[in-house]
Amino acid sequence: MTEILAIANQKGGVGKTTTAVNLAASLAVLKKRVLLIDLDPQGNATMGSGVQKNELNFSATDVMLEDAPIEAAILTTKTGYKLIGANRELAGVELNLAEKNRREYVLKDAINRIADSYDYILIDCAPSLNLITVNALCAAGGVLIPMQCEYYALEGLADLSNTIDRINQSLNPELQIRGVLRTIYDPRNTLTNDVSNELIAHFGDKVFETVIPRNVRLAEAPAHGLPILFYEKSSKGAIAYLNLAAELVKQGKKQKKAQGKPA
Ligand SMILES: Nc1ncnc2c1ncn2[C@@H]1O[C@H](COP(=O)(O)OP(=O)(O)OP(=O)(O)O)[C@@H](O)[C@H]1O
Ligand SMILES: [Mg+2]
Repeated sequence: MTEILAIANQKGGVGKTTTAVNLAASLAVLKKRVLLIDLDPQGNATMGSGVQKNELNFSATDVMLEDAPIEAAILTTKTGYKLIGANRELAGVELNLAEKNRREYVLKDAINRIADSYDYILIDCAPSLNLITVNALCAAGGVLIPMQCEYYALEGLADLSNTIDRINQSLNPELQIRGVLRTIYDPRNTLTNDVSNELIAHFGDKVFETVIPRNVRLAEAPAHGLPILFYEKSSKGAIAYLNLAAELVKQGKKQKKAQGKPA
């Protein structure tokens, strides 16, 4: 069974892309077959995977416009996972999409063709809840929500919960919150602990046990086009993302067992 996860939070700069790239690399280290789809016109996940966003022959734009089969857009990277890249052209897709039948399901229909080849498909979303992000939420079985534990983190949470509820009721009944990830975490800050406690009160065991610490190596690695594991594998950031990958895999096995499916 392929697990398809949208990494989403309409708040900017909370660690979505850092999580997408480093979780993809960590799952690959655990011998999982991983596809990372960059669905953000900023193209940060593409660059962070060591691929030049402005030199893509086929990209997420072609997938969303149905210009090319999804297979053509899948790149092999040096990072152990496959990638569908994106750049600013993706921003123009929104208008074309609006005119389509099944406009919310273009990505899902494309992914369906190739899903069997992967254990995990991660989709890095832009910081907005537009139709492109809705496509990610319709293609996914779960949402992974990175959250920075600061005062404003909880603002906007209601918007995201409402969107997920709405999509759940109308477009994708399978969509679940797969987990809330505390990112850029600084335990010396008392506010961090307060917000963390509030997240646990609100989301209960949906909050991952793994916490991603504030770690300068995580911020440096993208400039080298490398996931942290290839940049500084013994850093706290690298270890945290490996732990997250292990936690995700372990939970997935438990869920399958509970549903009576083979692990
Ligand atoms: N754990 C961390 N420790 C230190 N810096 C981090 C950490 N996680 C992310 N950063 C840095 O914070 C900034 C924002 O991170 P990132 O790009 O992953 O967020 P994002 O949610 O994808 O942003 P956007 O909403 O713009 O797509 C980046 O400069 C990144 O390098
Ligand atoms: Mg991003």
